[in-house]
Amino acid sequence: MLGFWARVPVANPPEVRTVRFRLNGDAREVEVRPGEMLLETLRNRCGILSTKDGCQPQGQCGCCLAIIDGRRKTTCAVLAEKAEGADILTLEGVDPSERDLIARSFVAAAGLQCGFCIPGIALQAKGLLDRDPNPSRRDIARTLNGHLCRCTGYTKILDAIELFAAAKRGEAQPVPESDGRVGRSLARWTGAELVLGDRPYVDDMTLPGMLHGAVVLSPHARARVLAIDTARARALPGVEAVVTARDVPGERWYGLIHNDWPGFVAVGEEVRCVGDVLAAIAAVDEATAREAAELVRVEYEPVPPVLDPALAMREGAPQVNPDGPNVLSTTVVRKGDAGGELAASAHVVRGTWTTQRVEHLYLEPESALADPLADGRLRLYTQGQGIFDDREQVAAFLGEPVDRVEVELVPNGGAFGGKEDMSIQAQTALLARATGRPVRLTLTREESIRIHPKRHPITMDYEVGCDAEGRLTAVRARMVGDTGAYASVGAKVLERAAGHGCGPYRVPAVDIEARAVRTNNPPCGAMRGFGANQAHFAMEGCVDLLAEKVGLDPWEMRWLNALEVGDATTTGQVLEKSVGLKQTLTAVKAAYYQARAAGRAVGIGCGLKNSGIGNGAAEWGKARLVVEDDGTISLYNGYTEMGQGLLTVLVQCAVEVTRLPASRFVPKVDSTFDLQCGQTTGSRGTLFGGLAVAAAARKLRAELDSGRTLDQLAGKVYDADVLIDDTTAPGEEVDRIKTHTSYGFATQMVILDAEGRVETVIAAHDVGRAINPALCEGQIEGSVHMGLGYALTEDLPCPDGMPATFKLRDLGVIRAPEMPEVQVVLVEDPEPEGPFGAKGVGEIGLVPTAGAVAGALAAFDGVRRYALPMKDSPAARAMKVGRIR
Ligand code: FES
Ligand code: FES
Repeated sequence: MLGFWARVPVANPPEVRTVRFRLNGDAREVEVRPGEMLLETLRNRCGILSTKDGCQPQGQCGCCLAIIDGRRKTTCAVLAEKAEGADILTLEGVDPSERDLIARSFVAAAGLQCGFCIPGIALQAKGLLDRDPNPSRRDIARTLNGHLCRCTGYTKILDAIELFAAAKRGEAQPVPESDGRVGRSLARWTGAELVLGDRPYVDDMTLPGMLHGAVVLSPHARARVLAIDTARARALPGVEAVVTARDVPGERWYGLIHNDWPGFVAVGEEVRCVGDVLAAIAAVDEATAREAAELVRVEYEPVPPVLDPALAMREGAPQVNPDGPNVLSTTVVRKGDAGGELAASAHVVRGTWTTQRVEHLYLEPESALADPLADGRLRLYTQGQGIFDDREQVAAFLGEPVDRVEVELVPNGGAFGGKEDMSIQAQTALLARATGRPVRLTLTREESIRIHPKRHPITMDYEVGCDAEGRLTAVRARMVGDTGAYASVGAKVLERAAGHGCGPYRVPAVDIEARAVRTNNPPCGAMRGFGANQAHFAMEGCVDLLAEKVGLDPWEMRWLNALEVGDATTTGQVLEKSVGLKQTLTAVKAAYYQARAAGRAVGIGCGLKNSGIGNGAAEWGKARLVVEDDGTISLYNGYTEMGQGLLTVLVQCAVEVTRLPASRFVPKVDSTFDLQCGQTTGSRGTLFGGLAVAAAARKLRAELDSGRTLDQLAGKVYDADVLIDDTTAPGEEVDRIKTHTSYGFATQMVILDAEGRVETVIAAHDVGRAINPALCEGQIEGSVHMGLGYALTEDLPCPDGMPATFKLRDLGVIRAPEMPEVQVVLVEDPEPEGPFGAKGVGEIGLVPTAGAVAGALAAFDGVRRYALPMKDSPAARAMKVGRIR
C-alpha cells in the first residue's frame, strides 16, 4: 500500500513551463510545474508572504487572497499557468499610505489575534471599499463569507474594517493605543506586521540551503506494519534523505505525560491511528518531497480497529496501545452521600448527554524548521505551546543532551490546545541531522487534521437533585471520554470534566467518575475548555430541567445556587476570594427579563473554569528582563503567544511596575534562559507569566528608583521564578482542598430570533482585572464563536477511524455573515493571587455557551436537546456550514 498523497503526479520528471504576469506592478516571468497552484508560485517563487496557506487546495479559508485582474481570488484554487498575462495585486503592492491605514485600523480595533487570516481579510476589505466606500456592517460581513477566522469571532474584524472605511473617507483616523499601563488597551505586539503579513510564521521562514520535508502517514486506523520500502523514494532526483523508525538514534516514543506516541511506527508494530508517521523525506523542494512520500511502499496487514470506547472498556478488548490498558484513567470525585441525597430530593432529573469530537482548525497548519548550527547544536523554530517540552522531547528523540537543542518560539497562527503535543518537530529535527542542512516541514490541512489531538467526545450520564425550593442537593455523574490512540493529556481532560462536573453551583453531595479510554480513533487532548465545557453542557441542561420542576425560571434557579465566597466547588475547594458569578448574573438580568417579556426565546448558562493546572501539579511562572545596550529591555518568558495576546499583556505587567514606556520592552520566547514552565494551557499564561514578569520588574524598578539609569544598567538581568505548588491532587487527604489557584466565572445568555436563529449573545465574565480590555474582550468574543460552533455546527465524525471530511466548510466553523451579535460585559472581581487582580480568560468564554444555546432552543420549540452539535435545530439549519452527517 502506498502513502497517502496524490497532489503531485508520480510520473516522469515534470516539464516546467514559463508564465508571465504582472505582480504588484512589476513584470514577472517564472517557471512553474504542471499543476502548480498560483499560491505556491507567489510564495515559493516570488517571495510573497502576505498570501498564507491555510487550506490549499480547498479555497475555503481566504488566507491566500490576491486581487487578480481586479477580482479577489483565492490563489490556492487558481492554476499558476492560468495567471498568464494577469495583473496580480497582493498586500505587498498596496500603496504604502493605504497599507499603513489598514494596519492602524486593525490594530486600533484589536481586529486580530494570531493574525494568520488577517492579510487575506485586509485585502478583501480594501477591494470592497474600493467599490463601495460606505458599506453597511452587514455588507462587510457578507463580503467576508469566503474567509475563516478561528480566533476573533469576527466582531473586532468588522470594527476594524468600519474604522478603515471611515479613515478612507477622510473621517476619524485610527490611533493604536501606546499607553501600556494595566487597564489600557495597548496595541498588540507586532500587530501592524501581522496585519500586513510581514511577520513570518514558521512556514514563511527560509534559510540558505534549506530542504523541505514531507511525511508518510498511515491510511489505516489499525494495522500491522509488515514492511517499509523506501528505495524508490531515495532514488528520486532531489531527495536528500528518507528516514524511518530505524534511523531514530534516541527515544522513539514521546508524549506529554505518557511516552506512548511513536515518532515513527516501526516494522513489526501496529499503527494505531490514521495520523501515525511511517517515514519522512527531505528534498530540494516540497513537491519533490511529497512525490517521494508517494513512492514509499508500506505493506500493512489490516487489523479490526477498536473505535467505540464502550467496547474498548470491555474485558478482552484488544489493547490499543502497548503503554497500558485501554482505560487510561479514572477520576473519582466524591463528597457527602450523593445516593442518600438524591433519594431524599424533592426533584431529580436524569439523562445522558453526549458531545462530539471537534477539530481545532487553527488557520496555520503545523510547521517546524530545524537548523543544524556550525557548533554542532541544532536550532529548532517551533510553534508549539510549550517550547521547552518540545526541546526535551526532540533532544531525547535525537539521543542528544538537551543543551544541544536550542528552541525558539515563532508565535503561531492559532493553537487552542492542539499544539501542545508534538506534531512533526522530531521528524524535522531528525531530517536536519540526517542531511546536515536546514529542513522545514509543513503539514497540509489534511495531514494536520489527521495528526493532532482533538476535543474529546464525552458521554455523560447525569443525575441531579434539588429540594422543593430549588436548592441543588446532589450530582451523580458517569463520564466516558474517547481519548483516541495516544494518551496526550486525555486523563487530565477527563479529570477537569469531573472537577467541573457541578458547574458553578453549590452542591453538597457529589459522586462523579470520569474515564478516559483509548481507541484507534484520532487522539484527543487539550482543546480550549478542556473538559469543562462538556460537563457544563450536561449540568446546565439538568439545572434547566430542575427549574421547570420547581417552578423557577432559569435565571432564578441559577441565582439560588450560584457559588459565592465561602461555598465549595465540585471538588470541595472552599472559595475564599474573587467569585464574581453573581455579578455576572446581575449583569445580564435586565436584558434577560426584557427579552422574555418581549416574547423571545432566551437561554442562559453559567460557567466556571480553572486558571492554572492545579490538581497538585507544581507550576511555574518564569521571567527575565535583560537591559540591552541599545536601551531596549528584552522580556523573556516561558509561555507561548498563540494569538491570545500574552506577550502584549506581559509587557503591560512590566510597564505597570517600572513606569517605562511599552516601546522599551521586547518580548522573547526562546531557550536563552531556562524558563521551562510547561505548556501554555489551563488559562494560566497571564496568571503565572504575569506574576513572574511583575516580580522581575520590581527588581528593575528598585534599581531605577535608586537613581541608576538604563544606560548604567545595560547588561543586567532581572529574574523571577514563581513557584505555585499549593494545590491539591485528586484524592489527596488534606484539611483544606485547593484544586486550583483561581477560577473565572461567567454568565451567558442567548436570544433567538423569530425563526429560531441565534440573534444575540450577551457574555458577562468575571475576569478579575482586565489588564488589556480590548484583548480580554477579544478572547471572549472568539470563545463564544467557538462555543456556538460547538453547540450547533462543528463535528468531526471518524468512520473507520478516518475523519469523514477535511473540508473547512464541512467542519462547521461559523463564518462572519452567520455570526450573531456578541456583547461582552467585563466584570472585575480582583483575584488576589493574580497579577494586578487578573485571572485567566482564555477558555471560559465557551464554557457556558452550549448550555445557553440548548436552553434557548428548548424555549423556542420545546425540545430539550442532549447531544452536540444540535444540528436538528433551526439555529443550526440556518447555517451554511457543518452540513456533514
Ligand atoms: S489557502 Fe487558499 S483559501 Fe485557504
Ligand atoms: S486572527 Fe483570524 S485566525 Fe487567528
